[in-house]
Amino acid sequence: MAKVKIKFACTECGNESPKWLGKCPGCGSWNTMIEEKETIVKTQGMGSPLIQTKEKPRSIIHIESGQEPRIETKLQELNRVLGGGVVPGSLILVGGDPGIGKSTLLLQTSHALASKSLTVLYISGEESVRQTRLRADRLGALTESLYVLCETNMELINEAIESIRPDFLVIDSIQTVYDPNVPSAPGSVAQVRECTAHFMRVAKIKGIATVLVGHVTKEGAIAGPRLLEHMVDCVLYFEGERHHSYRLLRAVKNRFGSTNEIGIFEMGESGLREVTNPSELFLSERPLGVSGSIVVASMEGTRPVLVELQALVATTNFPSPRRMSTGIDHNRMALIIAVLEKRMGMFLQTQDAYLNVAGGVKLDEPAVDLAAAVSIASSFRDAPTRPFDVVFGEIGLTGEVRAVSRAEQRVKEAQKLGFKRVIMPEKSLKGWNPPSGIDIIGVETVSDALQAALG
Ligand code: TYD
Ligand code: MG
Repeated sequence: MAKVKIKFACTECGNESPKWLGKCPGCGSWNTMIEEKETIVKTQGMGSPLIQTKEKPRSIIHIESGQEPRIETKLQELNRVLGGGVVPGSLILVGGDPGIGKSTLLLQTSHALASKSLTVLYISGEESVRQTRLRADRLGALTESLYVLCETNMELINEAIESIRPDFLVIDSIQTVYDPNVPSAPGSVAQVRECTAHFMRVAKIKGIATVLVGHVTKEGAIAGPRLLEHMVDCVLYFEGERHHSYRLLRAVKNRFGSTNEIGIFEMGESGLREVTNPSELFLSERPLGVSGSIVVASMEGTRPVLVELQALVATTNFPSPRRMSTGIDHNRMALIIAVLEKRMGMFLQTQDAYLNVAGGVKLDEPAVDLAAAVSIASSFRDAPTRPFDVVFGEIGLTGEVRAVSRAEQRVKEAQKLGFKRVIMPEKSLKGWNPPSGIDIIGVETVSDALQAALG
């Protein structure tokens, strides 16, 4: 008979303890110990063998360099987020809310790779083989060399890997897989840690590019020990609003590329479609000639994206006015309002202010400041903005407008989409020639910018 014992494991570092503790002795974080059932079973053999490589240390100048080889998927948006394609032997973790489209994305990726005559193994621990086939029918993802297996036992998954020898492996999801040698339930800290470590060894030694799907917790972090994110090469989050059809793929860690890039997809009847011109999508529902709305040219990684910002300023009924922002940092908004009050003499203390980035995008670069200031001022004064203006620039505490990076790219994107004027930092105008056909207004202070935008 198996004996059941209770133990506690830290969700941050995986440290275990026989009793509950408020503070984890391993990593010092508070309130991270969770209860787990441990079933003592007799393990046979040695468990998973440690794989050793007998290499001697080498001088760094004798190590051959060169680009990482990359397998390009047909999904350009995914390639960009990964830094140019999938690196063989890399371990990628994809997290996201349930139903957001992780399985869809990976099945489409699997199909794209299989149709390049690579062997792909898709392990589904959540859906049956038939369900996966039905989904593949809908996505048109039927290829001979795409193998599907519905299995959660890691030893059996290993056998499948041995027999199929895939180039690309998908584990959907890591929380459903269990190692029979580890006496914990699937999805527990110990299981997730062991299974991830195992797949990492397999990926590195056999050179299989592996993708693990991870569930996220209520707070939005990938469930399981934090060190899961440290173990893998690449952590991607697939995000989106349930009520919108587009989805963003974002890298929060990437050992083979930058973490600034985002990939944009739209979920449709036949799966995810790539959005190659995001600005058009984000501006599609924009009202023209109203107060409080302005378009900002923001950079998402190396790509300029035009997004609409909306502000609503209305007299408050509360002793302290409300400040609400979605898609923009709350503190940044407070700072901009303070600058408008102090430097522009706007009396906003009696006004509620709401700031919203249309379409649920998150903008976290300072170049958005000036557009936020213009939209708040426009709503406060009830002065409509011009429909073909684009604004960007950082605001300093004295009300000055500071230079931002990649001004030229932002202006070009605005011109490409048919905008007529750009209000931008004067200091960012040095060193390049603005394209013809678009008016450039360089401003040095917030006051100049408001004068130009609202007249
Ligand atoms: P899924 O990939 O199963 O999400 P996850 O693996 O992240 O839980 O996506 C499921 C959702 O996507 C579901 O609500 C239906 C929708 N969907 C489409 O709209 N079109 C499609 O072609 C597919 C396959 C799914
Ligand atoms: Mg799924």
